Amino acid sequence: MQAAAPIVQFGHVRKQFAGRPVLDGISFTIRRGEFACLLGPSGCGKSTTLRMIGGLLREFEGSVLVEGTRPEDRWRSLAFVFQSPRLVHWRTALDNVAFGLELREPGMRAEERRRAALQYLVMMGLALDAGKYPAHLSGGERQRVAFARALAVDPALILMDEPFSDLDVNTRERLRDQVITIWQATGKTIVFVTHDVDEAVYLADRIFVFSRKPTQILRILDVGRPRPRDLERDPALAELRREVRALFATQREPPHGFPSAGDGQPPEPAGPRGRGSWSGPAPRLGG
Ligand SMILES: Nc1ncnc2c1ncn2[C@@H]1O[C@H](COP(=O)(O)OP(=O)(O)O)[C@@H](O)[C@H]1O
Ligand SMILES: [Mg+2]
Repeated sequence: MQAAAPIVQFGHVRKQFAGRPVLDGISFTIRRGEFACLLGPSGCGKSTTLRMIGGLLREFEGSVLVEGTRPEDRWRSLAFVFQSPRLVHWRTALDNVAFGLELREPGMRAEERRRAALQYLVMMGLALDAGKYPAHLSGGERQRVAFARALAVDPALILMDEPFSDLDVNTRERLRDQVITIWQATGKTIVFVTHDVDEAVYLADRIFVFSRKPTQILRILDVGRPRPRDLERDPALAELRREVRALFATQREPPHGFPSAGDGQPPEPAGPRGRGSWSGPAPRLGG
C-alpha cells in the first residue's frame, strides 16, 4: 500500500554534542502521508532529530534516510516551519511566500511565482492580507504565512518545529485545525515536533514519544481516532492522554540545581507561557 511506504527512516542514530550524548541510538520509520508527532521533554533532541531529517545536521552515527537516500540529496522534497516564522520584514506576505519559490525555482517567472504564492495565501485564509508587511500581521497570521511559504514549494515532507508554541491558546487551536485540513487536502507528510501532550494527541496519526537525555524512543503510539478530534468527549483520546502523561511523569527533569549524573549543563531556560515545562497541567482544548 502506498500510504505505508517509508519516507523517513532512522536506523540506530546516535548524536552527541561536545561529548554529551543526546540521541542514544534511535530507530523509527515515518510513513508517506502520515502526520507524525515527535513528543518529548525540552532538550531531549527533537529539534536535533528534525534537523537531521532536513539534512541540516550531517554528523552523527547511524543512518538517516529520506525517500531512501541522504536527506541533503532530497532537499527539494522538504520544507521547514519553525517556532518563529522567520519572515523577511521588508517584504509583503505575498512576497515572503514567493521568496521561498524564488530560492527553490529561480527559473520561474516572477508573475508566475506571485500567482502561486497568492494561491497558498488564499488556502491559508490570508487573501486579504497578501499586501501586508509582517509587522502588520498578528503572530498567528505570520505563522500562516510561514506555512504558506512551506506549502508553496510543494514539498513531500513538511517539518514543523513547535510552530504554535509562541501563540495564544485560541490561535493555536485554530491553526491546528487549519494544518489538519490542509494536510488532509494535500496528502503531504508532516513531521511535527511538540512538547505538548494534548497537541500531539489532537494532531497525530502516530506519536513518537522521546525520553529525556540520553534519548531513546519510549513508545510509538497509534492514535487511530477520526478527526476533528475532541479530547474532552472522546474517551479513547482521554485515555491516550492519560497514558502519555503518565509516561511523561517518568521523564521529568530533576529540579534545577540537581543535574543528573554526567549532565553538567545548565537547565534549559523556560520561555514564555511555560515553554519547556511539561509536568504542569496541559492547556485544555476547546470542546
Ligand atoms: N549545536 C549544538 N551544540 C551543542 N549542543 C547542542 C547543539 N544543538 C543542540 N544541543 C543540545 O542538544 C540537546 C538537544 O537539543 P534540541 O534538539 O534543541 O532539543 P529539543 O528540541 O528537544 O528541546 C540540548 O541539550 C541542547 O542543548
Ligand atoms: Mg526544539
